[in-house]
Amino acid sequence: MSKSYRVAILGATGAVGTELLELLESRNFPIANLKLLASERSVGKTLKFKGENIPIEPVTEQAFENVDIVLASAGGGTSKTWAGVAVAKGAVVIDNSSAFRMHPEVPLIVPEVNPQAAASHKGIIANPNCTTILMTLAVWPLHKIKPVKRIVAATYQSASGAGAKAMEEVKTQTRDILQGKQPVAEVLPYPLAFNLFPHNSPLTDLGYCEEELKMVNETRKIFGSQEIRITATCVRVPVLRAHSEAINLEFETPFNPDEARAILSQAPGVKLVEDWQTNHFPMPIEASGQDEVLVGRIRQDISHHCGLELWLCGDQIRKGAALNAVQIAELLIEKNLLQSTTA
Ligand code: A2P
Repeated sequence: MSKSYRVAILGATGAVGTELLELLESRNFPIANLKLLASERSVGKTLKFKGENIPIEPVTEQAFENVDIVLASAGGGTSKTWAGVAVAKGAVVIDNSSAFRMHPEVPLIVPEVNPQAAASHKGIIANPNCTTILMTLAVWPLHKIKPVKRIVAATYQSASGAGAKAMEEVKTQTRDILQGKQPVAEVLPYPLAFNLFPHNSPLTDLGYCEEELKMVNETRKIFGSQEIRITATCVRVPVLRAHSEAINLEFETPFNPDEARAILSQAPGVKLVEDWQTNHFPMPIEASGQDEVLVGRIRQDISHHCGLELWLCGDQIRKGAALNAVQIAELLIEKNLLQSTTA
């Protein structure tokens, strides 16, 4: 009989949590028991899994007993408080927050890029930032053929990155504006409907916001290369759940766009979307709900003979968060890297 696992979702009621639930069901993840954990606010509610109503439980030490895998997506503070507890009780934590991503002993994994890093885990594995996951999927297959020297990225990030409440806020603001009312911003710092603004993560002394530095530092860690020079400008746009990115790559030697196209058309987790006749390229509405990152508009950079331009869109909640986490869990099972399992 094949093994099945006791899984807990920490932050089950959130945008990523509910997607995790859907993915565990649709991918037929081998589950022996499923616990749904959220804040005290959600206790009393239920969520459906395989036709069954599962109650939301509060997060306590006992909640992590008899759990093999914790899929955590309840913010950095909650992960910092509970990940160690879960690991001490024998679980492996796949953490969606930024709490442990840059910790030297915590693998940071995109399964299509660096699955080998999972082998060194000590109980916690970090799921990278959404913009980083999407970018690495498109850049890694090219980098493997010819090393990338420098990456310049500009992002167009959806409301979902700030959680389910931010998505609702954009819808409400849109309705309000269309009815001639003033939009109210409570979750995000400014009205996002019919607007955009530089990413709302805290600013650092470098003048970059934390989101931008995540793209720099996490990409280097995932690629295992501190030499790559990376810069990014992250922007929040009034899109509900898929992020877009304009990426400029500088290689050691010229990279033919047709060769890049051929490589990306075969790359795992990537779908090439290019119709130059109709000007049809990746769009967030087409990326939403899809597992693959859509990549297109691959072209020679006219300002640099070793440069390449590309454009991508990917579902932030799915591959940018929940799907990547579930794929990490599947990788742990495949490579027999879980501490305890039930038969
Ligand atoms: P709740 O719905 O009870 O607030 P999102 O990223 O969409 O905002 O979702 C955040 C998730 O994290 C939700 O499931 C939320 O639960 C959960 N959460 C937030 N704070 C805590 C906390 N202190 N303890 C446990 N879960 C939390």
